[in-house]
Amino acid sequence: MNDMSNVVWHEWSVDKSMRAMRFNQKPTLIWFTGLSGSGKSTSACALEKKLFSMNYNTYSLDGDNIRHGLCSDLGFNNHDRNENIRRVGEVAKLMLDAGFIVVASFISPFIREREMVRKMLKPGEFVEVYVNTRISVCEQRDPKGLYKRARDGEIKNFTGIDSPYEPPRNHEIEINPGEKSIDEIVDHLLKELGQLRVIRTGRDS
Ligand code: ADX
Repeated sequence: MNDMSNVVWHEWSVDKSMRAMRFNQKPTLIWFTGLSGSGKSTSACALEKKLFSMNYNTYSLDGDNIRHGLCSDLGFNNHDRNENIRRVGEVAKLMLDAGFIVVASFISPFIREREMVRKMLKPGEFVEVYVNTRISVCEQRDPKGLYKRARDGEIKNFTGIDSPYEPPRNHEIEINPGEKSIDEIVDHLLKELGQLRVIRTGRDS
């Protein structure tokens, strides 16, 4: 950690609440966690599309894409995964400060890292969505052929094969993409987000 004692935080005159008020929304980080191939990105993408069509100002952060840029220097050992999630958490925090509703999808296999991101934000700003798809289903789907390569020993530290996944214990929402259509998943997410007061419901719109 660098010595930051000579760097003083500058208070800005346009603040988060003013930006959020202009967008007429509650800045929130909706965090999808689950195995590779569980349906995180598909569900997150469909949710963002729906929220955007409802006039919410949204942005998405996705593991596969972020690892081509911001985190292209990181691999998949525990240290690098932790740094990946720390950076994404900081970026998401900035985007919430800008007033956005952010949809993030990362395997984020460790409870400690997801809790680290939760603690970066204010209470209620972090909504954890557990994408609970069985590994046998993910492996059968294997959309990128990565499970096969991991089983063949070509990829090391693959989540669910030779690297652990710690399921959430205190998540706000759970989805099972294998058992429902994408429209049903989005409906379920909207209902839960309404109950959590992240989005407006019929009563308060
Ligand atoms: S995380 O563990 O650090 O949160 P992240 O979500 O950014 O992972 O990236 C996961 C994506 O990287 C997977 O969807 C998969 O396509 C790819 N990938 C490549 N190697 C691995 C690996 N060893 N374990 C898991 N995913 C991997």
